[in-house]
Amino acid sequence: MLFARLAIGFFILELGHARNHYEIVLNSLKCRAVKESAVNEMACVLHRKRTPIIAARLNLSETFQNFEIQSTFDLFKKDNTRMNVASLKMDGCKYLGAMYENNILGKLFRRFKTFTNLPSGCPMLKGKLYEIRNYTFRSDEFPPSAPQAKWQVRTRLLRRAEVYADILLEGELVYNT
Ligand SMILES: *[C@@H]1O[C@H](CO)[C@@H](O)[C@H](O)[C@H]1NC(C)=O
Ligand SMILES: *[C@@H]1O[C@H](CO)[C@@H](O)[C@H](O)[C@H]1NC(C)=O
Repeated sequence: MLFARLAIGFFILELGHARNHYEIVLNSLKCRAVKESAVNEMACVLHRKRTPIIAARLNLSETFQNFEIQSTFDLFKKDNTRMNVASLKMDGCKYLGAMYENNILGKLFRRFKTFTNLPSGCPMLKGKLYEIRNYTFRSDEFPPSAPQAKWQVRTRLLRRAEVYADILLEGELVYNT
């Protein structure tokens, strides 16, 4: 669910035809319940950084009939200053289903789906354990040309303008040349 945000920044990049020659490295993955009374458990684990493996668990204490997703995608410049390349707000319920129809990263999400029991729409049920089970990133599912840069994707889950959860993903693309 969190990886769609990677797509956002890549959308605006020109896509080449050559096979990509980079590896994806995740430096950090953090998940935090902001409205703790609505979340029984929220945890993310980065099992491996290079060719990343991630796992996540989410158990809500309120059923979500609706929610919003707010994402910002930033690139770090050489001097370490951040440059915002995309920010967007989406209907979270629609987003759960729509990510599998994404053209550029469709292949990625179709495989992702086999690693998670996240629903493809609302409601997100209270007391149910939603998991991502050791999903491994594969660079051949990403666009062939992307800048060699550090990036950060921050995603917030909101309901009625209140932040419920915060997910921060930091990584980089490392070219093998
Ligand atoms: C979700 O959390 C609640 C409260 O801690 C717990 O009672 C319930 O068993 C959990 N659900 C699952 C499926 O782990
Ligand atoms: C996930 O991967 C980690 C590290 O490779 C491993 O210790 C763990 O047992 C795996 N979990 C599952 C559910 O496969």
